[in-house]
Amino acid sequence: MFYNCLYVCLHIILLIVFLSLLLEMTRADSVTQSSHPIVLKQRESTIIQCAYETALANGLFWYIQDPNQAPQLILSEHSQEDIPKRFQHRLSASHNKTEKTFHLNITAAVLSDSATYFCALSPTL
Ligand SMILES: *[C@@H]1O[C@H](CO)[C@@H](O)[C@H](O)[C@H]1NC(C)=O
Ligand SMILES: *[C@@H]1O[C@H](CO)[C@@H](O)[C@H](O)[C@H]1NC(C)=O
Repeated sequence: MFYNCLYVCLHIILLIVFLSLLLEMTRADSVTQSSHPIVLKQRESTIIQCAYETALANGLFWYIQDPNQAPQLILSEHSQEDIPKRFQHRLSASHNKTEKTFHLNITAAVLSDSATYFCALSPTL
């Protein structure tokens, strides 16, 4: 069977911390994430790592940014409703509060998954 061997390239960028309306300043946080692009073949799966250090995270999110586009929400911790059609049934992430991680699991990669991925958190006040 023909196997399309073109590559999907995922760039991972540092976590963004949401501005909280009740805080005058954005709280900074640090994360450990892969610094090299993840390159995979079409239909392969991968885990994009996201770890945070804030004591408490109120909500965790994954965003995608296509070239020349604004970041788009693709997955949030508390809702499956935001997942865009192109990613439906292919994304999952679970918040491990002990490890403080929110790794994104992408399955059955397609070329259009090539983009920049952001892990974001909204801090608990
Ligand atoms: C979270 O991570 C810890 C440490 O790796 C592990 O022991 C635990 O089973 C994980 N919890 C969940 C819900 O996966
Ligand atoms: C990623 O998701 C797929 C599909 O739900 C699942 O089969 C696979 O075990 C997951 N991988 C990890 C490392 O959790």
